[in-house]
Amino acid sequence: MSQPSIESTLHEDRVFQPPAPSDVGASDWLVGSLAEYETMHKRSIEDPEGFFAEVAAGFHWYKAWDSVLEWDAPDAKWFVGGQTNACYNCVDRQVDDGFGDRPAIIWEGEPIENGVPETRTLTYADLQAEVGKFANVLKSHGVTKGDVVTIYMGMVPELAVAMLACARIGAPHSVIFGGFSSQAIADRVCDAKSKVIVTCDGAWRRGKVVPLKENVDNAIKMMGDQGEQPVEHVFCVGRCHNDIAWGALDRCYNEEMSKASPEYACEPMDSEDMLFLLYTSGSTGKPKGIVHTTGGYMVHTAMTARYTFNLIPDSGQVYWCTADCGWITGHSYIIYGILPNRVPTLMYEGGPDYPTAARFWQIVERHRVTQFYTAPTAIRAFMKWGDEHPASADLSSLQVLGTVGEPINPEAWVWYREHIGRGVCPIVDTYWQTETGGHVITPLPGATPCKPGSCTRPMFGVDAAIVDADGAEQPADAGGLMVIRKPWPGMLRGVFGDRQRFIDTYWSTVRIDGEPVYTAGDGARRDADGNFWIMGRIDDVINVSGHRLGTMEVESSLVAHEAVNEAAVVGVPHEIKGTGIAAFVSLVPGKAAGDELKDALRAHVSSEIGPIAKPDQIRFTAALPKTRSGKIMRRLLRSIAAGETEISQDMSTLEDFSVVAKLAEDKE
Ligand code: WT7
Repeated sequence: MSQPSIESTLHEDRVFQPPAPSDVGASDWLVGSLAEYETMHKRSIEDPEGFFAEVAAGFHWYKAWDSVLEWDAPDAKWFVGGQTNACYNCVDRQVDDGFGDRPAIIWEGEPIENGVPETRTLTYADLQAEVGKFANVLKSHGVTKGDVVTIYMGMVPELAVAMLACARIGAPHSVIFGGFSSQAIADRVCDAKSKVIVTCDGAWRRGKVVPLKENVDNAIKMMGDQGEQPVEHVFCVGRCHNDIAWGALDRCYNEEMSKASPEYACEPMDSEDMLFLLYTSGSTGKPKGIVHTTGGYMVHTAMTARYTFNLIPDSGQVYWCTADCGWITGHSYIIYGILPNRVPTLMYEGGPDYPTAARFWQIVERHRVTQFYTAPTAIRAFMKWGDEHPASADLSSLQVLGTVGEPINPEAWVWYREHIGRGVCPIVDTYWQTETGGHVITPLPGATPCKPGSCTRPMFGVDAAIVDADGAEQPADAGGLMVIRKPWPGMLRGVFGDRQRFIDTYWSTVRIDGEPVYTAGDGARRDADGNFWIMGRIDDVINVSGHRLGTMEVESSLVAHEAVNEAAVVGVPHEIKGTGIAAFVSLVPGKAAGDELKDALRAHVSSEIGPIAKPDQIRFTAALPKTRSGKIMRRLLRSIAAGETEISQDMSTLEDFSVVAKLAEDKE
């Protein structure tokens, strides 16, 4: 195959069978055996329309669909002709069914005073009223169906309210992670031509205030300077009471809400109307706005949440996903997939180690959390902080543990099970992407035997396979490309405003029987028992702490510094983050290399893109290794950054061999 095949170095033979539900305090397993899973999966692949019609019938529709699926690769339409509203199915439906007084969102703030954090519980009825009010606020400021609303907030209940209010009126939201910088906001707001931003004065993070409103102000100034500034209103939630500037576009959220009516009927939306866009990094160029639509996304996320986490209403469960709503994990598995299942979703505002490294475990104890969903990077940090922290809290409420974001190393998997899961909780290692909308490969806690490090088996409706570049399925244990051969309801519908990029990125690598198939961009293998093992990204995107960063964005930022001539960044193994960033930098003649400049460059990237993109290593070099066509050879740089002394890769296309020897010498 022409793509680099990935060599399997992980050998893991331990198998953990699912426990009985009573072993973990669960009332039942929704899917209780591998045979039952297999029967359901087989049906979902052989008769996806029948299978998903049954699942979708569990939701509220204003108008029934005419056909379940229309598929003309790469374009899928699900529940065509049907009308529904995601906010209705998350919120109003529970109220209408008589569950208005049940907890929908349990929120815990970061600051702790006299040993007690601030907590808030919003019932479904509370949530309905808040969302109705904000829908009215948006509408009274001219926001209508189809307008993109940008949300840049901390993890406060108002963030969930803002997202759901957008869904209620049919205005797609674009949530930007609160750790991103002004430049990142400006790029995304301009791409989406968003007229409204919802933000907070600040967000609490490890006892400090992140100045969100100030970042928005700077973004608006930048856009003004560029001559392209679409924003008309900025709604600001008061949270940290830090000083903020108040300009002509600014509206006080709290004041507007106090005047607004809670009554706002959900807008019936076509199943294929856009629900949101979410920007993710690509390997080249500007961030991509991944488009998700209404009906299929709603059905896919709620179904997968139910089966993967074994959500059972009225059984005393409290579900907690530690992600931020700025990532897809927060969209799908804090909000849209969880609320329709009528199990309370916990939102935590702040840092995992504030004020102590036991904070998460205190939250589990305080709220009797039953499902806990986090990332391998967090698990590696917990391991580093010490076993005494989870041991100091009562974790006996936990039933199911989950992980997402990157491959989990078996050591961390086993630690997670022992120290968080009492040696008994099943771990669901959920493989998916911003683009897939929801889980595509994952164990089911009561059904799937687990091997640490494997995300195991495909979700219902997902026809995943490992193929070579010609589309031929690979034999057991041979590395290849992860593809999904059939459409599934939660799949992306496009890249906002860039049809060609959608096709080039996801639908141009592999064809089967002449038809393009979805290529995830991950290398993987499937073992003889049918378990999938993800081996890493096949492109240059760097996955830091479970978040993909485009090399291009980081490089552009470095090059924007006055001392830098050229830059290339690659991923390098990192103990905590999984992958760290190594930057190779060549300087403008006359500029002096040194530690001072390294620090300045790190600070520069941090302010331009966000702390997450800060390079862990910076190496100064006279020149970068390139192919004849001028492409930087990142594979080679990865080897050098990882400390490989002998460069064993194919260098036949390398322009200037002397550069390589020089780079290997220039140790950090
Ligand atoms: C990429 C998607 C899905 C939300 C978080 C990240 C990697 C994700 C796993 C897993 C191995 C995983 C893949 C994927 N990934 N989950 N359980 N095992 N790898 O979303 O930023 O869209 O990144 O994260 O490489 O393609 P994202």
